[in-house]
Amino acid sequence: MTRYFETRNITVKYDRVLAVKSVSIGMDEGETISLIGSNGAGKTSTLRAITGLTPISSGEIWFNGDRIDRLATDAIVERGVTMVPEGRRVFPLMTVRDNLLMGAFLRRDKSKIAASIDRVVTLFPRLKERFHQAAGTMSGGEQQMMVIGRGMMADPKLLIMDEPSLGVAPKFVQEIARAIVDINRQGVSVILVEQNSRMALRVSRHAYVMSTGKVVVNDKSSRLLLDDRVQKAYLGEISEARA
Ligand SMILES: Nc1ncnc2c1ncn2[C@@H]1O[C@H](COP(=O)(O)OP(=O)(O)O)[C@@H](O)[C@H]1O
Ligand SMILES: [Mg+2]
Repeated sequence: MTRYFETRNITVKYDRVLAVKSVSIGMDEGETISLIGSNGAGKTSTLRAITGLTPISSGEIWFNGDRIDRLATDAIVERGVTMVPEGRRVFPLMTVRDNLLMGAFLRRDKSKIAASIDRVVTLFPRLKERFHQAAGTMSGGEQQMMVIGRGMMADPKLLIMDEPSLGVAPKFVQEIARAIVDINRQGVSVILVEQNSRMALRVSRHAYVMSTGKVVVNDKSSRLLLDDRVQKAYLGEISEARA
C-alpha cells in the first residue's frame, strides 16, 4: 500500500556529497506536513528530488497512486505537484498580474484561470492592491505572497513550499502562515519546508526533522512544538531567533 504521497528511502548525491540519505516521508490526501531542520540538512535537495529537478540515486517516490521519480518536472507538475522554490524568484519588471499568470502556463483549462486569480487575491488581499504594479517594487514579504500565489495558479493538488518565511518581516510571516492554513482548508495538500520550525509546526499536522541528510525525528507537530530536546538538538538558535 502506498500513501497519497511518499518517498521511500530516497538518496540524493552531488558528486561525492551524499545530501539525502535514505529519506522516507509520507502524507495522506489533504494533510499538511512539514520538513524542518537547520541549514544544510538536505531539505531543499529532498524537494528537488520530489519535483524531478535532481535525480535520485536510489529509492522511489509515489504520488496519487503513481510512481513519479522517473518523470520530468513538467510531467510531475501536470499531475498536480507544484513547488514554490526557495528565494522568491520574481520577474521584477513584470506586473503582479503577469507574474501570477506565469504560474498557469502549463494549464489546459485556460477558462478557469480568472477564477484562480480571484482565489489568489482572496488569499492575499494585498496583491489585489498591487495588481498592476511592477513586482520588484513590493516588499520581500509581498513578493513571497506573490510567489506562493503563482504556485496556486497551477491549481495544484500538492503544493510544496521551500522556506516561505525566509527573509520575511514577522508581520508577513503571520499572514503567510494564515494563508497556508487557508490553502490547506481548500483541499490542497501541503509540504512546508522551513528553518522557522515554530511557524512550520504550528501550521502542520505531522513533521519530519532532518539533520545531515537523514530524518532523525518524525512525530506529530503538536508534540514537537512542546519538545525542548528536539528544538535544542536539531533546530538550534535559528528557530529561536526567528520564532
Ligand atoms: N548543487 C549542489 N552541489 C553540491 N552540493 C550541494 C548542492 N546543493 C546542495 N548541496 C549540499 O547538500 C547538502 C544539503 O543541502 P540542501 O539540500 O540545500 O539543505 P537545506 O535545504 O536543508 O539547507 C549541503 O551539504 C549542501 O552543501
Ligand atoms: Mg534549503
